[in-house]
Amino acid sequence: VTDLATSILGRTGVEVSILGYGAYELRGPSGPSVSDAEAGRLLNEVLDSGVNVIDTAIDYGISEDLIGRYIARRRDEYFLAGKCGCVVGQEGLHVHTAANIREGVETSLRRLKTDHLDLVQFHLSLTKQQMEEHGALQELLKLRDEGKVRYVGESGTLPNILEQVPMGVFDVFQVPYSALQREHEKVITTAAESGAGIIIRGGVAKGAPTGAWGRAENYMINPDMMKIRWEEAGLDDVLGGISRMEFMLRFTLSHPSLHTAIVGTSNIDHFHDNLAAAGKGPLPADMIAEAKRRLDAVGAGATA
Ligand SMILES: NC(=O)c1ccc[n+]([C@@H]2O[C@H](COP(=O)([O-])OP(=O)(O)OC[C@H]3O[C@@H](n4cnc5c(N)ncnc54)[C@H](OP(=O)(O)O)[C@@H]3O)[C@@H](O)[C@H]2O)c1
Repeated sequence: VTDLATSILGRTGVEVSILGYGAYELRGPSGPSVSDAEAGRLLNEVLDSGVNVIDTAIDYGISEDLIGRYIARRRDEYFLAGKCGCVVGQEGLHVHTAANIREGVETSLRRLKTDHLDLVQFHLSLTKQQMEEHGALQELLKLRDEGKVRYVGESGTLPNILEQVPMGVFDVFQVPYSALQREHEKVITTAAESGAGIIIRGGVAKGAPTGAWGRAENYMINPDMMKIRWEEAGLDDVLGGISRMEFMLRFTLSHPSLHTAIVGTSNIDHFHDNLAAAGKGPLPADMIAEAKRRLDAVGAGATA
């Protein structure tokens, strides 16, 4: 176990490692090619390294099954975050009825071989009306009362997150953020100040700055825009000898309201690189200030 820094995930009071693991890359056929045994080794290495947050979803292919198969016996070593609203077996389809919320959570529990999820997050960033009109939120709270779910969260994005935070019902928000996607920079702080835990996703911008700009396709901002932001801001000139990926991850970890960044990877070497970068903590304040100054100047700043 490394001495990875930890923080308290808002009002949940749970101590989480600042580097978490996003299991989307373990989705199987539609994702990177990883054998089941390799996935098992990676998941065990994640835990051995002191990472104690694992994020998955009903519609991440075989990811939940792999977690259940390879690390369920170590269940007390990780904070397990899942999603709801997804329709079992139909990737990308979401239905926010009470029945579908229950079916989803119960399917996750079976696949993950556990009796509780630590966190269940609405996978889509819904309006208050969308989460309530067919009883979805009410059912999620019922599942919490039954002990199947410990905390409830939202994978929230602008603009709906502005309505979700004041509802006061969500213990955790999962929000996209990185140097190349700073749109949520301010609302992350607003959510944290309300007492919610903050999970950051997209913290290494899909690895795009390694030169694989196409990777970020279908992401919240398109890959061309990320490349343009990187180049126009001249970020290579602020690296001071560190790698682009170390810069990306440590920039993300420099957000003062972040509790954990769930970085996805199918590659154990990338995981070790990320662990080493996270071990160095946030970037120096002057480097962050210079990067933000340059990004602001090209219109790549915070919007809310
Ligand atoms: N709506 C939602 O709730 C939602 C949406 C998206 C994601 N998520 C969650 O958030 C997690 C992370 O989000 P994300 O996947 O969008 O973004 P991310 O963590 O920024 O990017 C993951 C990608 O970056 C690459 N990568 C990671 N470390 C690297 C390194 N050191 N060097 C080079 N490439 C590296 C990975 O490829 P390799 O496999 O090659 O390392 C992977 O393709 C997901 O796994 C999922 O759990 C949730």
